[in-house]
Amino acid sequence: MTTENPQKKQRVLSLIQPTSVPTLGNYIGAMRNWAKMANDHDCLFGVADLHALTVRPDPAALRRQTAEMLAMFAALGLNKREENIVFVQSHVPAHCTLSWILNCYTQFGEASRMTQFKEKSASHADNVNVGLFTYPTLMAADILIYQANYVPVGDDQKQHLELCRNVAERFNGLYGPTFVVPEPYIGKLGSRVMSLQTPTAKMSKSDPNPKGTIFLTDTPDQIVKKCKSAITDSEASVRYDPAKKTGVSNLMTLLACCTGQSFAQIEADFAGKGYGDFKLAVAEAIVAELRPFQAELARVLQDKAYLEETARKGAAKAEQLALRTTQKAMKKVGLWAA
Ligand code: TYM
Repeated sequence: MTTENPQKKQRVLSLIQPTSVPTLGNYIGAMRNWAKMANDHDCLFGVADLHALTVRPDPAALRRQTAEMLAMFAALGLNKREENIVFVQSHVPAHCTLSWILNCYTQFGEASRMTQFKEKSASHADNVNVGLFTYPTLMAADILIYQANYVPVGDDQKQHLELCRNVAERFNGLYGPTFVVPEPYIGKLGSRVMSLQTPTAKMSKSDPNPKGTIFLTDTPDQIVKKCKSAITDSEASVRYDPAKKTGVSNLMTLLACCTGQSFAQIEADFAGKGYGDFKLAVAEAIVAELRPFQAELARVLQDKAYLEETARKGAAKAEQLALRTTQKAMKKVGLWAA
């Protein structure tokens, strides 16, 4: 079962945490695909502020980054079509109700197997809270509450999507068709952008080495500097080989994503040239890719009233859809609607 009504457009949904300025990894692995899908699907894109609480962010920073993330959605044109919805997760409290119900249909063992839980528990050893553990069931609620068909995410969210599908199938098996079982949508290229300094690790907002991560608000100068200092190898040959040449292959992926060139084309263009030219070309391609987005973001951020109105409108539209599924699930499990 992928859709309730074959006449309807397929529904696409994804969320992102407002834990800092998004990275080039977030953009290439997820947000850019969202912008492409927003033209011909009914979409919901959300700011996962409740998920962000699992790492106890500074309250003022969380508020600011949540609003800025919504501005980024608008700058990407995600809400240009009236059918598409952008919203802040905590503005739709039904996510928490459904999340609690799903907690009761998720086994402790399956939640314990989540790689991201293990990694985050290790990196935040002083704050291994229960929210970190139940994080994937809140994510499942985010998806199932809107009966989403496709969830465009980067490679690192694959396991959470699998858990979501299992919980949906289990619930449907027990109570009859209730949730659409969603499909992950993972782009072929750029689904795992690696750190520029440690190319064996994914590019991340929380990388302790700031030179490893390009942020979407970095200036052209900062982008050039970070690309120039990217770790490569001593071979001085631009060749795609992710197993042996992780750094160069990552930079080639970024160049291919930003220019649409194939790896063969890139290899031919840089045959016999050193890494200096190559790194500069990568930086210039990233700067050009981000330029229109950054200009539009600066404009949207000026308009506070528009942003507040966007958040209110998004919450109202999302809530209407969310309540429909939540009430259905509540009824199925036997909660009394007096
Ligand atoms: P988050 O905020 O960590 O990341 C947002 C999106 O960016 C992708 N991503 C990457 N893609 C390629 N290379 C990288 N280096 C890279 N880093 C991050 C992520 O895969 C993600 O698609 N749990 C989610 C947020 C969430 C969600 C949801 C997503 C909450 N509810 C419902 C989908 C559906 C998260 O923390 O993403």
